[in-house]
Amino acid sequence: MINVALDGPAGSGKSTVAKIIAKKLDILYLDTGAMYRACGLKCLSSGVDVTDEKRVNELIGKIDLEIKYVNGAQVTLLDKKDVSTDIRRPEISMLASTVSANPFVRIKMVEKQREIASSTDCVLDGRDIGTYVLPNANFKFFMTADSKIRAQRRYNELTERGEKVDFDKLHEEIKQRDYNDSHREFAPLRQAEDAVLIDTSFISAEQVADKILSYIKGK
Ligand code: DC
Repeated sequence: MINVALDGPAGSGKSTVAKIIAKKLDILYLDTGAMYRACGLKCLSSGVDVTDEKRVNELIGKIDLEIKYVNGAQVTLLDKKDVSTDIRRPEISMLASTVSANPFVRIKMVEKQREIASSTDCVLDGRDIGTYVLPNANFKFFMTADSKIRAQRRYNELTERGEKVDFDKLHEEIKQRDYNDSHREFAPLRQAEDAVLIDTSFISAEQVADKILSYIKGK
């Protein structure tokens, strides 16, 4: 079984790189952030404050969340509805970050992630894959980049999709998420001791993927 763990902060290029690697190795790509995003969306649409632990636990305890693959691409189903596009909305990012600090939510999502990873060769991207979800993953990488560069990537992504976004606000939000994700008590964003660090500030996603692939093939 091949499990590749790709961790790092928002905008470090994980998902772009993970998609390239998955395609080249012909394995599955599991975007774990999509699960926390779906939890954030569920809270929003149910009128539940993401910081209200008791109500969040009740709601997420019975969440109908499914991850499917259509032509190799991940589809996130919430209450049987495809929410893959909805969960990319900028306001969902912060909700996902806040709700993901809830230990009950994490345990529930991690259970699903481990289930998928134990049955299929895959590359998983997230914040705690190498440290908590799959501490025994065969390959671990930690991607990072300057926060301004990461904000610029998000800005380009969103404006290309026709969304109106303010760069400074996006940059602040990214820094806030970095702080939240790395300071939560349970399974925070952290480089695993045995993970290879890759700074993606000045190299393209293809170059990062090549580095990772040559590392995997050379091992
Ligand atoms: O990777 P992303 O931006 O889609 O993730 C959204 C949020 O979900 C992120 O700010 C923190 C949380 N998350 C997490 O806590 N653990 C993961 N493995 C993946 C995402």
